[in-house]
Amino acid sequence: MTNSVVKGMKGVISVAPMMDWTDRHCRYFHRLISPNITLYTEMVTTGALIHGERERFLRFDESEHPIVLQLGGSEPEHLALAAKMGEDAGYDEINLNCGCPSERVQSGAFGACLMKEPDLVAEGVKAMKDVVDIPVTIKCRIGIDDSEDYQFLHDFIEKISKAGCEKFIIHARKAWLKGLSPKENREVPPLRYDIAEQIKANFPNLVIEVNGGIKTIEDTKEKLSTFDGTMIGREAYQNPWFLNAIERDIYETPNLLTQAEVVQQMIPYIKQQWELYETPMKSITRHMVGLFQGQAGARHWRQVISTQSHLPDSTTDILKVAMEKLSEA
Ligand SMILES: Cc1cc2nc3c(=O)[nH]c(=O)nc-3n(C[C@H](O)[C@H](O)[C@H](O)COP(=O)(O)O)c2cc1C
Repeated sequence: MTNSVVKGMKGVISVAPMMDWTDRHCRYFHRLISPNITLYTEMVTTGALIHGERERFLRFDESEHPIVLQLGGSEPEHLALAAKMGEDAGYDEINLNCGCPSERVQSGAFGACLMKEPDLVAEGVKAMKDVVDIPVTIKCRIGIDDSEDYQFLHDFIEKISKAGCEKFIIHARKAWLKGLSPKENREVPPLRYDIAEQIKANFPNLVIEVNGGIKTIEDTKEKLSTFDGTMIGREAYQNPWFLNAIERDIYETPNLLTQAEVVQQMIPYIKQQWELYETPMKSITRHMVGLFQGQAGARHWRQVISTQSHLPDSTTDILKVAMEKLSEA
């Protein structure tokens, strides 16, 4: 895929679902920086939607489109209910998490351990597709524990695609279900893009997006020459201005907001969220800490945001102060 093909193609690049990170405030902020990327929710369990505060879990801003709801669950009937709720709430796509290795998730029989149960996943995909018109997609790893290097993933994808799933996001490392923390599971198992590439070669009609370890524009362009899309996790969160570089250098989008304009537009948003939901400012500003990463004065910005956002009498004026400190630096 060349640059000119990417230009104008909304969605081929996405920000990964990340628990505790990609909440709706983070997504609102990311959307101000990047009009074209696809945004994912944090994983929401079917149980939370069926028994919990559904409206709160599904809430999002219209500006977030294209927006994907990521579900965690395994029971086909529950997945179908939850997917329908997502569609009714206005989400553009439903994604099933088959890649998360955490203990808590394993005990709930979902996440990466579902890769061991392709029949159940296929049933779940079918149940969701029977009740929604929006696409149902899968995010998975290349394998788990000591699964064979390629055949395991091939068989998984073959089975699930026959159930009607046409898009897979592959985090190109295995999940080791025993002995590693979730964090280690994002770092220790080696990245094997070659396996994901083999899947794309053998399933040319499926949409295959790659995830894991993508940190630069060069990496992103290189992956887009092989895959149908790339998903970016930690780099997008820790260094959100990377999303501006993607818009500029890959989508070639004109009239992007400057960093100062993004901050200015967050101010009325913070005030509105307080008025509507009494959302504390720190719950929103925490996602903005990395905005100036790598630039002169970034430390002052980080300091003001992280030491003052939580104070009871703090107002959005601290953002103005932080901007001033930054320009002084
Ligand atoms: C804090 C954090 C939370 C995450 N939560 C989820 C999640 O809810 N669902 C999921 O599928 N993956 C989750 N992941 C994994 C990411 O989506 C992604 O697959 C992983 O970070 C690898 O991509 P990266 O190297 O670009 O960060 C999480 C990652 C991080 C860092």
